[in-house]
Amino acid sequence: MTEKDLQLYKRWYKEYSNSFHTSDEEAWKNLALKIEHTEHVCENIAAIASDLSLSDGEIMLAETIALFHDLGRFRQFKEYKTFQDRISRNHGLLGAITLLENNVLKNLNDKEQQLVLQTIKFHNAFAIPDIPGR
Ligand SMILES: [Fe+2]
Repeated sequence: MTEKDLQLYKRWYKEYSNSFHTSDEEAWKNLALKIEHTEHVCENIAAIASDLSLSDGEIMLAETIALFHDLGRFRQFKEYKTFQDRISRNHGLLGAITLLENNVLKNLNDKEQQLVLQTIKFHNAFAIPDIPGR
């Protein structure tokens, strides 16, 4: 993946998250907290990744995963008015579905796409399943 891809993802995320803006102040406050949380995760993952002797491509993949890890929260909250997966939908899975439906990761190769999608899908799982080829 390239720096250009990462910039594209940041722009896409901003546009997507802003599309959920609502005049319902309480609802927007909840979603804005998720946007802020994502910003912190992006900052932290960049700091952690830079300490791990990763390649530039690996660091950018880590940032992509941080950026999109809670993407499913937007649809979850809009449709169910809750962040509780137990009574709505699994937000990890919903995020991965959203990326696929919007063909967001089309510029990445298959291995990179699978890494991003699987990581997002299972970021909230109690245990990570054994995925062939991982
Ligand atoms: Fe999450």
